[in-house]
Amino acid sequence: MAKDFKRTLITTALPYTNGPVHIGHLAGVYVPADIYARYLRLCGRDVVMIGGSDEHGVPITLKARKEGVTPQDIVDRYHKLIKESFEGLGISFDIYSRTTSKIHHDTASEFFRRLYDKGEFVEKSSMQLYDPEAGQFLADRYVTGECPHCHNDRAYGDQCEACGTSLNATDLINPKSVITGATPELRETRHWFLPLDKWEPELRKWILEGHKEWKTNVYGQCKSWLDLGLQPRAVSRDLSWGVPVPVEGAEGKVLYVWFDAPIGYISNTKELLPDSWEKWWKDPETRVINFIGKDNIVFHCIVFPSMLMAYGDGFQLPDNVPANEFLNLEGDKISTSRNWAVWLHEYLADFPGKQDVLRYVLTANAPETKDNDFTWRDFQARNNNELVAILGNFVNRAVVLVHKYFGGNVPEAGELTSAETELFAEIKRIKGEVSEAIETFHFREALKLAMDMARAGNKYLQETEPWKTAKTDMARTATILNTAIQACANLAIVFEPFMPFMSEKLVKMLGEGKISWNELGNDNIIAAGSVIGTPELLFEKIDDEAIKAQTDRLETIKEQNRINSFQAAPQQPDVDFDTFMKADLRIGTVLECERVPKADKLLRFLIDDGLGKRTIVSGIAAYYKPEDLVGKQVCFIANLPPRKLRGIESQGMILSAMDADGSLVVVGPSAPVVAGAQVK
Ligand code: 2FM
Ligand code: ZN
Repeated sequence: MAKDFKRTLITTALPYTNGPVHIGHLAGVYVPADIYARYLRLCGRDVVMIGGSDEHGVPITLKARKEGVTPQDIVDRYHKLIKESFEGLGISFDIYSRTTSKIHHDTASEFFRRLYDKGEFVEKSSMQLYDPEAGQFLADRYVTGECPHCHNDRAYGDQCEACGTSLNATDLINPKSVITGATPELRETRHWFLPLDKWEPELRKWILEGHKEWKTNVYGQCKSWLDLGLQPRAVSRDLSWGVPVPVEGAEGKVLYVWFDAPIGYISNTKELLPDSWEKWWKDPETRVINFIGKDNIVFHCIVFPSMLMAYGDGFQLPDNVPANEFLNLEGDKISTSRNWAVWLHEYLADFPGKQDVLRYVLTANAPETKDNDFTWRDFQARNNNELVAILGNFVNRAVVLVHKYFGGNVPEAGELTSAETELFAEIKRIKGEVSEAIETFHFREALKLAMDMARAGNKYLQETEPWKTAKTDMARTATILNTAIQACANLAIVFEPFMPFMSEKLVKMLGEGKISWNELGNDNIIAAGSVIGTPELLFEKIDDEAIKAQTDRLETIKEQNRINSFQAAPQQPDVDFDTFMKADLRIGTVLECERVPKADKLLRFLIDDGLGKRTIVSGIAAYYKPEDLVGKQVCFIANLPPRKLRGIESQGMILSAMDADGSLVVVGPSAPVVAGAQVK
């Protein structure tokens, strides 16, 4: 529990700067981390939240090569975009820096050098693919070829995206260098390895015995890694983009991106707090929490802790690593390369002033224990049915009624009845449960409880009916509306970690300056006589049109991806010209078209072929409504021997093109021609 520590250092996975951030990043890492940081600050605890861009690694160099710019251009572009969009969403980093900074290069370099000097690495030679034309070793991502499992011929050296198998570049059939297209050759190269096996006993003790409270997905992944037995891991790469290996004779080698990136947490703390950073890392009274996605678990729970133990000098291991699972989008895996994502900067532009709606939906639907799906319909429903109808509605009613009956001045409460005491008992109970849920990283649950507080407010107004008491008993009405305003102030506090923009607006409306978690549960936060601002809606309905614009955009992307992923079939063996000319290809006009009974796939055509009428049966029923084809012109082979299909004699074959998804499109002339025209 947070109470037992003097201070909390929150780290958030450093996103790669090869693209903008999307809702998957937000739901997995940044929104939960921000809720946690804001909550602790509101409780008055000492906390820093560290963020930054991960600017090394091969995907960045590949993107730069593709665009004909430098890797520095790429990281400058995305670092700025990511930093600004995080600010736009109210992610309250104390620092958001970058791994191309000098302080980071120096820190990572010193870290490596100390491990090197202490003899913590083993040096090993291995055979790696080398591009003889480019004169350089090839990182796995720089090699493509045929997957040995599914024979997709566009597999990468580290993974086949078609079948999902992890690969080594040397497994690929017909490997090719991405840089020059040359066939790579195997050459020997030397690298430094961190022997994780050396740290296995400590890791087992620390995690398996000491951190049974970790989330089951995290604990389980660590256990299976540890049970499989740890192997030494290479911490350097043959590459020119990154932190140079600070050892003589290591020209052309850089630190592996996963070696330097977590050190970025330390560098960024140093940059933020040059004089006191050490107490945030080395004092046992500091509690370190790493917010990450599930693909980062091994690096944060096994590799980085081994690095910290190897370094020594009192570096604290994380106290918790509350990794989330993945968020999907409309049923499909989010993918930067396939543009299948809701990008934060685009959301902020498309939905100005609605930062909290996204924060709310991503938390209400957070992939805390299993992968979850984001859909635009759910986004709309949660906004309209929860934020507008429950929370916004309660606050609006309370504020409007105070204006209506008391000219906007908070009235004095008189004697409290059981309705008031029950409401505040409920608020206090919820406070305890929300605190417990946040402190144990159950943010979905915490948000649901906070929403129950707004529900309790609505129920209170529904039961006490101040619009009725106002006709007969203004003293009672004053008590009710004072209570409702106090409930609004409680809502501003309880929702601050989740929806800081709404909370700030509400606090201003209530005329109060600063809020604290301590005040939560208090029935007298806003003094009687305070002036309440003009009622302003906290949330607005989102209409179908705004949602359709988003789903239409996704449809277009899906279509583009379908086209981009198409691989044309290999060319057939040659056919001699005379043989080809024997096929009598013609254009016919469709006179009739209907489904063949009891045959899902077949359509029966009656065609005007210029000589007369002929019947052709074709297997395209899944792709057309028969009536849509009547009057169309189609290309068909006239001189195939007739054959019977479901009892109907088919006199020829209609030609169709097969699209990327296997669907068939009938082939016809690009302008009308006479029925019976020969295709030459
Ligand atoms: O998976 C990623 O996006 C990595 N860039 C995360 C790095 S986390 C930390 F180690 F910096
Ligand atoms: Zn494959």
